Amino acid sequence: MTQDELKKASAEAALEYVESGMIVGVGTGSTANYFIDGLARIKGKLEGTVASSEASADRLRGHGIPVLDLNSAGDLQLYVDGADETTRHLHLIKGGGGALTREKIVAAASDKFVCIADDSKLVDVLGAFPLPIEVIPMARSYVARQIVKLGGQPVLREGFTTDNGNVILDVQNMKILDPVELETALDHITGVVTNGLFARRGADVFLMATSNGVEVLQA
Ligand code: 5RP
Repeated sequence: MTQDELKKASAEAALEYVESGMIVGVGTGSTANYFIDGLARIKGKLEGTVASSEASADRLRGHGIPVLDLNSAGDLQLYVDGADETTRHLHLIKGGGGALTREKIVAAASDKFVCIADDSKLVDVLGAFPLPIEVIPMARSYVARQIVKLGGQPVLREGFTTDNGNVILDVQNMKILDPVELETALDHITGVVTNGLFARRGADVFLMATSNGVEVLQA
């Protein structure tokens, strides 16, 4: 199977978690797009969705699926999203698509976070994928210097502005042995909006698509 077929298989498996009358949190990226396309087939079941990016909101609306503001939706029962890396503890790196802040907010507001991805995303140690950090633009250089002190090599994502009007630093060469500790340390740097470690609130379920079927990993 191709990687796209595996992404689609994982996204299709996540449709099983959608129950009648739910407001579903929806992630961002190519795997989440397969989930959105699948949701279109069962949209009559949904009360609505909350999107983690403008791109996902546009795709949902394009299918005629209602998109609600999180402030009016309240807490969500379910959030479905992809990841750039995940461990067997369901600690994640996210933000390859730059939507990490809204993704973290929707994940925080959700009872269950179902991560969808192909098996290439499973790692023993996080950090081979550059860790995205959303930063207030005027703090970019200051934050970069603090990250160097933590042992990382921050690289500005050129020509990219987040949905929130901020910039992204992609941090290379971090071998992340304690994701909870690093997530907290990065959050404490003034000027950091969000970092792409989802460890304090990781996923609850990982639907890992392999060529032999979709494996269900639980936190
Ligand atoms: C976007 C994300 C995505 O979930 C992550 O980048 C995975 O993307 P894809 O499903 O395209 O592989 O965090 O900010």
